Amino acid sequence: MSIALRKKNHIDICLSKDVRSKTTNGFEKFRLIHNALPEEDFTAFSTESSFLGKKISAPLMISSMTGGTEEGEQINRCLAEAAAELNLPFAIGSQRIYIQEKRNPRVPYRKIAPSIPILANLGAVQLNYGFTRDDCLRAVEMIDADALILHLNPLQELIQQNGDTDFSGLMNKIAALCHDFPVPVIVKEVGWGINCRLAKILTDIGVSMIDVAGAGGTSWSKVESFICENIRMQRIAEPFDDWGIPTAECISSIHEKYPEIEIIASGGISNGAEAAKAIRIGAKLAGFAARLLPAASGKNTEAVKEELSVIMQQYKIAQFLSSGIEKAE
Ligand SMILES: Cc1cc2nc3c(=O)[nH]c(=O)nc-3n(C[C@H](O)[C@H](O)[C@H](O)COP(=O)(O)O)c2cc1C
Repeated sequence: MSIALRKKNHIDICLSKDVRSKTTNGFEKFRLIHNALPEEDFTAFSTESSFLGKKISAPLMISSMTGGTEEGEQINRCLAEAAAELNLPFAIGSQRIYIQEKRNPRVPYRKIAPSIPILANLGAVQLNYGFTRDDCLRAVEMIDADALILHLNPLQELIQQNGDTDFSGLMNKIAALCHDFPVPVIVKEVGWGINCRLAKILTDIGVSMIDVAGAGGTSWSKVESFICENIRMQRIAEPFDDWGIPTAECISSIHEKYPEIEIIASGGISNGAEAAKAIRIGAKLAGFAARLLPAASGKNTEAVKEELSVIMQQYKIAQFLSSGIEKAE
């Protein structure tokens, strides 16, 4: 199956099937402490934050979803337009197709969004399949990105036919890349989480931020099972529907032990109040992927903007009304 067809299938399946992980994102284990007397003017209450040296309206971002195909570019155009208007960061999905086919995106992302943080994206495992530092640089340059995201998706590669399953020596390759790369390198998972120990090792070798992309949202074992017509592969994938570390657990465990690590929270964050919980337990930013896909797949920038505006307002209310966070017993 070509990568372009796989990408199309991913979107179709995420839109039409139940691909939510069988585990929860873990945020139900935390409660924002309600403050009945906020003593501030809500209209003047600011959610502004900064990310990669730029001011943003709120610590919320559009997580990587797609790239390379015609349909993917239309989706990304909507996401980038909405992000630009609302002044939120936008991460493109994997740029592998552009690198392999030696071409650039047709959408001028930087022109559409001149001042927001834009993030490039490649699979880290591709460093074992011919991708070089120059390819990483090209991914950044082709969209004039502020940072490069390398995604880790070992389970996804293991449960698909002909997946890229050689992860040997990747840590050293990531370290070498970080050494003199011109923009920050961020490492993320795709929905199974990054544990505390790995987060520490990655930041020690030069990774600037960790996007935990934990369990509780889109489950790629489910997505891959829907794509794969091979019954044996489907049977192998089945027990992994609840695999991974719930997002909230990733954030709190990393932050408690290593408060200096910059964490992006993603993985099943379904609204702005959950994003507020993520920030309160230690994340710098909260990312949304699947939640934005239905609006973006309609190629309707206004619909994406509306979705993001609702999330931003929920976030603002939750922050305004809470004085802290506690474990819910
Ligand atoms: C349709 C779709 C495609 C995705 N493609 C990528 C990708 O190319 N690169 C990547 O790092 N993550 C990718 N992801 C993972 C998301 O960035 C995110 O980490 C994960 O889906 C968890 O967030 P969610 O529960 O809000 O969807 C994709 C997610 C979706 C839904």
